[in-house]
Amino acid sequence: MPRRPTHPPADAASAANSSSAAKPVTLPVTPASPDLPTALLGGLSPSQFMRRYWQKKPLLIRQAIPGIEAPLSRDALFELADQDEVEARLITHFRNKWQLEHGPFAPDELPSVKQRAWTLLVQGVDLHDDRARALLDRFRFVPDARLDDLMISYASDGGGVGPHFDSYDVFLLQVKGKRRWRISAQKDLTLRPGLPLKVLQNFEAQEEWVLEPGDMLYLPPHIAHDGIAEGECMTCSIGFRAPSERELTAQFLYHLAERGEAAGKSGALYRDPQQPAVATPAQLPAALVERVGSILARVKWNEQDIASFLGTYLSEPKPSVVFDPPQRPLNDARFVSAASKQGLRLDRKTNLLYERRFFFVNGEEMAWHGAKKWLFDLANCRSMSAKRFVTLSHDSSVTALLHEWYCAGWIQVGELA
Ligand code: SIN
Ligand code: CO
Repeated sequence: MPRRPTHPPADAASAANSSSAAKPVTLPVTPASPDLPTALLGGLSPSQFMRRYWQKKPLLIRQAIPGIEAPLSRDALFELADQDEVEARLITHFRNKWQLEHGPFAPDELPSVKQRAWTLLVQGVDLHDDRARALLDRFRFVPDARLDDLMISYASDGGGVGPHFDSYDVFLLQVKGKRRWRISAQKDLTLRPGLPLKVLQNFEAQEEWVLEPGDMLYLPPHIAHDGIAEGECMTCSIGFRAPSERELTAQFLYHLAERGEAAGKSGALYRDPQQPAVATPAQLPAALVERVGSILARVKWNEQDIASFLGTYLSEPKPSVVFDPPQRPLNDARFVSAASKQGLRLDRKTNLLYERRFFFVNGEEMAWHGAKKWLFDLANCRSMSAKRFVTLSHDSSVTALLHEWYCAGWIQVGELA
């Protein structure tokens, strides 16, 4: 199912927080070694999985997470779908007719759970719930720059989104009830015309399985698939961002222009002292086209510009994201004292990336002179122990920076469990 609805996100100023801000995080998040076999990948190591399956072919993993429970109950998911800043979609297939509606959905706007053949998709649940975030973190053997979000779907019996294909990689993890998945590597990806959602015209399943809680199906882009609930069910879909070449190019040029790097001589204005008088004023002068061509030919960039662009672009929070700064923030000294006892963690909405010379936090680029191991560790583990914080607390530039992030709601006191 395409992950980004085309409608702009609703005003998120009233960002309410869902259930779990104060609840303990129960799943480990420290990235495991990529060479250790893991049940999550059916006994393969992340390295083996990436080599053999990633972007290549599907993989069914029975009991990837045995005993898994849905990060949210059905009712909590419905509550989330009623919030303005949450992207939710309702897909119904009543009387053989596909329909799509965008949220938010008040409880009485959703069909009864006893009614067959409907599904509710809630995007970006990781931004609203720590357990969902922790589940997403299990997939950080893929770089954060590619990890997009965790979507949860609820389906009544017979519900699904129809046979379709996606343009990104996805792990479909069954977390409640059963779903029958049918997949196909077919070349014919023609869509049924005139429908509000992407449904394949000619779907011919090649393989088929019923997934139970804990089972997971990995699909690379463009594998046709159709998942139909057998009884009511919930599925988590862990999806990976894949910007198109066109989007990357447009965004990069915008990035250059914003920084003034594409502006040629600083602030120089276009000049045309040789422009003769014309009798055809509507005609675009050939000399203008030529002159602008030579200005554009001078636009240059280097590898650092590309890294800066990618770091800021990929760490930029989604438009609907609003951080929740502490209502009564601790002052600098109290913050240092609290973090020295309890450690720190990144807020579940924070994106922190780094490369050789810069790091990028929530769309902002910052330079560090020399490697800062603590920063790399914080970015990779999304958490810092109290002990580690103490070793840094003599450096007021570090504590001031972390205090600033804390005041912005980008980090929280208390390390991840
Ligand atoms: C998908 O097919 O991409 C997920 C749809 C769902 O969870 O129903
Ligand atoms: Co899909």
